[in-house]
Amino acid sequence: MQANFWHDMWATGVVGFHQAEMNAFLTTHWQKLGFRGDETILVPLCGKSLDMLWLAKQGHTILGVELSQKALDEFLTENAITAAPITHTHYCGYQLEQMRLLCGDFFHLSAEDCQDVQGVFDRAALVALPPEMRVQYVAHLRKILPKGTSYLMITMQYDQSRVQGPPFSVPEAEVRQLFAGVESIEKVEEVHFERKSVPGTEMVFVIKT
Ligand SMILES: C[S@@+](CC[C@H](N)C(=O)[O-])C[C@H]1O[C@@H](n2cnc3c(N)ncnc32)[C@H](O)[C@@H]1O
Repeated sequence: MQANFWHDMWATGVVGFHQAEMNAFLTTHWQKLGFRGDETILVPLCGKSLDMLWLAKQGHTILGVELSQKALDEFLTENAITAAPITHTHYCGYQLEQMRLLCGDFFHLSAEDCQDVQGVFDRAALVALPPEMRVQYVAHLRKILPKGTSYLMITMQYDQSRVQGPPFSVPEAEVRQLFAGVESIEKVEEVHFERKSVPGTEMVFVIKT
């Protein structure tokens, strides 16, 4: 998707992907990544996700990356958070006590930005991207993240010929192909759902690199 697609969505305020509660897959499966709690977690394409607050509450430091300044501003105001602006070559954004929120294109994120990252929470990020961008997205993650990074990744599968994305259908085989060669990929939950009357499944993966 082009940046304008997302900027327009945030401008209209119609952000159906945003969840008013913490993601249940996150709270159920996070412990499977085996973290102590003080690790730095990357939340790519973070929107104004409340999941970042849950992760921070577990003790983690959060690195969130989001195209829309409006999304990050809403995250701060809706959660009554004050934050200092940051200076960065490629991003504007905010620094909080346990959170760094970068506003700009995910593809500008560098290995230096991510040197402390040990985990990734991907909800509605991979599935937000069309096929060719998904390849670039995972290749970029694998290029910039330290070896040993673990992911909790949520995807979905449905008949793409019957409903358009985003969110796009990203079947298990594609996840395994994108992450070929990593230490392990385990599907830890699969739940049936309907998207616009088309049946599908949501899937949760624990990926260790
Ligand atoms: C489907 S939403 C998911 C947001 C969040 N992960 C959640 O669970 O609510 C995808 C988000 O990615 C952002 N986005 C899209 N392309 C991006 C890019 N190249 N770099 C950074 N953010 C991007 C959009 O603005 C949007 O907020």
